Amino acid sequence: MHIVHTIPELRAALAGRGRPAFVPTMGNLHAGHIALVRQAKPLGDVQVTSIFVNRLQFLPHEDFDSYPRTLQADCEQLQAVGCDIVFAPKESDLYPQPQTFKVQPDPQLADILEGHFRPGFFTGVCTVVMKLFAAVFGTTGGGSAVFGKKDYQQLLVLRRMVEQFALPITIVGAEIERAEGGLALSSRNGYLSAEQRQQAQALSRALAALAQAARQGQAPLEQLEAQASAALNAQGWQTDYLTVRQRHNLLPPPQADLATAPLVALGAARLGSTRLIDNLEF
Ligand code: PAF
Repeated sequence: MHIVHTIPELRAALAGRGRPAFVPTMGNLHAGHIALVRQAKPLGDVQVTSIFVNRLQFLPHEDFDSYPRTLQADCEQLQAVGCDIVFAPKESDLYPQPQTFKVQPDPQLADILEGHFRPGFFTGVCTVVMKLFAAVFGTTGGGSAVFGKKDYQQLLVLRRMVEQFALPITIVGAEIERAEGGLALSSRNGYLSAEQRQQAQALSRALAALAQAARQGQAPLEQLEAQASAALNAQGWQTDYLTVRQRHNLLPPPQADLATAPLVALGAARLGSTRLIDNLEF
């Protein structure tokens, strides 16, 4: 496995290796990331994983400085799963000058839900992913990239970015990996105490209950969502949103479609100072 830090080193390592199957990450890898790499491997000739904590997608009060950086342990896991190239740029490698050109995603998709609570988040994500795509695929004529469905909205935003810019990249969405009890795997679970980890299982349960109530049309959707948030808050959470949306555009579904349409229940809530997100397609 090669570990490279700069774009020229990456391109040299990729020369003659065929089409990359790419997994972008911010490191601090867990079983969810490793599942993405496993899924990516057969999709290309050379598996590339990037590790880069992207300042552009953090708000000033968020955890950019304290975000866990565990490069050595990450590389050991990647070696074991058969990754071919780790691209781990320093900030000065990826942003040698202030990044004044940005990718501005469609506000209809990017200013709702996560984008509402984390303004600018998806501009930061799209900008770095565009740059990573240029680094990985710029000399290879395209390939595939795998993203986890846990970041459901991110996956949709990036699919639309690739579509609208006609990038020769196939985006693949990977199912959420969960711990026992249903907690979606996330690097931020590392911030939780043992007691909070138990409590955190309530988020996926709340989404499942909301999905079931919505499917059965037990009440107007807004009422079900408000009840779901109140129930989670009563267990010590601070809920940003618990909501049911149409899968393809993340807009609220018409009440008449609840029984049959392809929907997704999405949630974001803080337990103590840790903000967790999760979702459930139904
Ligand atoms: O999902 C993530 O880990 C990040 O948002 C990504 C896609 C690596 C961009 O920094």
